[in-house]
Amino acid sequence: MKALVLSGGKGTRLRPITHTSAKQLIPVANKPILFYGLEAIAQAGIREVGIVVGDTIQEIRQSVKDGSSFGLNVTYIPQEAPLGLAHAVKISKDFIGKESFLMFLGDNLLKEGLADLVQEFKDKKPNSQILVSKVPNPQQFGVVEVDGEDRAVRLVEKPKMPQSDLALVGVYLFDSHIFKAVDEIKPSGRGELEITDAIQWLLDHKYQVICKRVTGWWKDTGKLEDLLEANRLILEGIKSHSDTASQVDSKSKLEGRVVLEAGAQILHSTVRGPAIIGKNTRIYNSYIGPYTAIYHDVSVEESEIEHSIVLEHAHLKNVHSITDSLIGQRVEVIKSPATPSAYRLMLGDSSRVEIP
Ligand code: TTP
Repeated sequence: MKALVLSGGKGTRLRPITHTSAKQLIPVANKPILFYGLEAIAQAGIREVGIVVGDTIQEIRQSVKDGSSFGLNVTYIPQEAPLGLAHAVKISKDFIGKESFLMFLGDNLLKEGLADLVQEFKDKKPNSQILVSKVPNPQQFGVVEVDGEDRAVRLVEKPKMPQSDLALVGVYLFDSHIFKAVDEIKPSGRGELEITDAIQWLLDHKYQVICKRVTGWWKDTGKLEDLLEANRLILEGIKSHSDTASQVDSKSKLEGRVVLEAGAQILHSTVRGPAIIGKNTRIYNSYIGPYTAIYHDVSVEESEIEHSIVLEHAHLKNVHSITDSLIGQRVEVIKSPATPSAYRLMLGDSSRVEIP
């Protein structure tokens, strides 16, 4: 069996970060989101992986390379434009060939591994197996209506009046009939070939679609609050560890579960876990609160931050206090002593700042 990982897309909901970077490479607990999926695929015993890529192909190729560090053999499949999940399937026909395959959305995180799902699909041999999860806001998802025995009856993309609270999770298994479905369907109102329409086509043509409920948690990290929640959920499971090349001075305290990566320095500071401090990051005279992941080469001075993700080479100085935030690469957030006392901002397109 092969796998198809979708890592193109527009990423409009995570602008401005996605103006310059791939959303699938945003780190959650200091590891790119995409890596969790690739690791789960390798663990499920799949070796041949096609990654569908768009404008951010270079960045994704640079981090994943040929996949060998994951135990995978990766082929890149360029998509000319983000024309939909079913379009991504369509352009991958040559790569997949006649085999069944697992499709994984590169910005999704699933606590349970993929091995059991893959095994069940191999045993039962349906035409497709989909995963669903109960959500409070089904309007924002592909929604699956099921009968009394959890068999999929109807799929609707982002319905205004959802008839079910079961969202379609970004992990699917298909046999080669899906290629017929994606050839038959037409683009939706938003101009995309929708995977929900392709699965509906399978249902309408009496192909067998098995529907399974997610047992652990599932997160689609396509927008900020979900990304922060995924970070929280992963940090919830970490164990304390300090790399031998990290440093905590005698004036500092680590409380709860904290991971310090190589070259991390904690000076005159308190870190209250669960939290992770990246390689060569320096925390000075500051407080790092729970559910914070600070990536590599960051500097935090005289500041307080919690429940946030800070990307590489960012610099925080004299800011009290930051929460529920995503701070991009090389961003500086600094309290300035200059007068007049006013906000001086240089923000990229689609940035968002909340001021008390
Ligand atoms: P989405 O999050 O549904 O779409 P998007 O990335 O365009 O984001 P937004 O809605 O914020 O603009 O995509 C799910 C995953 O599939 C994600 O990893 C990107 C990928 N994708 C493709 O590879 N090709 C596509 O044509 C689309 C629409 C998404």
